[in-house]
Amino acid sequence: MRALITGVNGFVGLHLEELLKVQNIEVWGTSRIQSDIQDSSLNRVQLEFNNEEEIIKVLNDVKPDLIFHLAAQSSVKKSWDSITFTMESNVINAAVFYEAIRRSKIAEMTKVLSIGSSEEYGIVSADNIPIKENSFLNPINPYGISKVSQFMLAKLYASLGMNVVHVRPFNHIGPGQGLGFVTTDFSNQIAKVEAGMIEPIMSVGNLSAKRDFLDVRDIVRAYSQIIHSGIPGEAYNICSASPLSISDVLDNLIKLSTYDIQVNTDESLLRNVDIPLYVGSNEKIKSLIDWKQEIPIEKTLEDTLNFWREKIQKERRV
Ligand code: GDD
Repeated sequence: MRALITGVNGFVGLHLEELLKVQNIEVWGTSRIQSDIQDSSLNRVQLEFNNEEEIIKVLNDVKPDLIFHLAAQSSVKKSWDSITFTMESNVINAAVFYEAIRRSKIAEMTKVLSIGSSEEYGIVSADNIPIKENSFLNPINPYGISKVSQFMLAKLYASLGMNVVHVRPFNHIGPGQGLGFVTTDFSNQIAKVEAGMIEPIMSVGNLSAKRDFLDVRDIVRAYSQIIHSGIPGEAYNICSASPLSISDVLDNLIKLSTYDIQVNTDESLLRNVDIPLYVGSNEKIKSLIDWKQEIPIEKTLEDTLNFWREKIQKERRV
C-alpha cells in the first residue's frame, strides 16, 4: 500500500509518516520547498498546489492508495494577520487539489483524508457541549471559515463519487510543533530560562480558555484508521473529550522545571475573540474504529518541553 502526504515536512506530517512506515506503508510526501526534497530516499516531491496539471502528473506517477491532505496554513492567530493567504492555502489550494484528483487516473481507487478543525464549530451554546459533529458550524475566525469551506469541498467531491472523509481534530500538541501555539510558546520560554537566555519571567496570553488537547501521535493514529473506515462526505471529531485550562497547561509545564518562574500577561498575546471552552465528543469516531487516547497529557507536555530544551541547546552550540 502507498500513501501520499501533502505538507509532509510539517509537524503532523512527520509524525504521520513515521506511523505509516511502521505499518509497512510506502510513504510519499509533497513539499513546496526545494531543499526539503533533496534526500531521494525520502520519496519527496516538490509541488505547488496552484498547479493542477503538475498535481495530476504527480498523482498519476505515484499512484497513492491513500492521500492525507495536510498542507495548510494552520495557525488561528496567523489567519487574522493574513486572511487572503489563509483562504488561498486552505480553500483554493484544496479545490485545485480535489479537481486534480478527480481528473487523474487514480480518482476511483484512492482514499482521501481532508483535515478540518474544531475551529469549524466556533461559538457553541452551552447545551451543545461536548460538541458533536452535527453541531451548528459557526466559525469566528478566518482559519475556522477556511476549514468549514474545506469540509464543504470534501462533501462536494464525495457527492461526485470521490472517497473523501473529513476529520475535525481538536488541539493537537507534541514534539516538533512550531512556535505560535500555546504549548510551544510556553515550552520555548521555559527552555530559554533554563539555558540562561532570558529572565525567569514568562509572557503569556489568555489563561482562562479551556481546550481539548490530544497528543499528535494519538491524532495520527486516528487518521491512519479513519481514512479506511470513514463514510465519504462525513466529518469525524478527533479529541480527548476532556477540557484542560491553559492555566493548568502552564502550571504543568512550570512544574517540570526546577526554576522559579514568574508569569506576566502580555496584552499583545490576547486575541480579539478567543473561544472560552472547546471540548468535543469522540463518540462517533469510537463507534467506528478501535481508537482511544493513549498518551496522557502530562507525558505530551514533558516530551514537548524536552523537545524545546534539546532544540535550544542545539541552536546555542551552532
Ligand atoms: N499561541 C498561544 N500563545 N496561545 C496562547 C498563549 C500563547 O502564549 N497564551 C495563552 N494562549 C491561549 C490562546 O488565547 C487560546 O485560547 C489557547 O491558548 C490555545 O491557543 P493555540 O495553541 O494557539 O491554539 P488554537 O486553539 O488557537 O488553535 C489550535 O487548535 C485548533 C483546533 O482546535 C491550532 O492547532 C489549530 O490549527 C487547530 O485547528
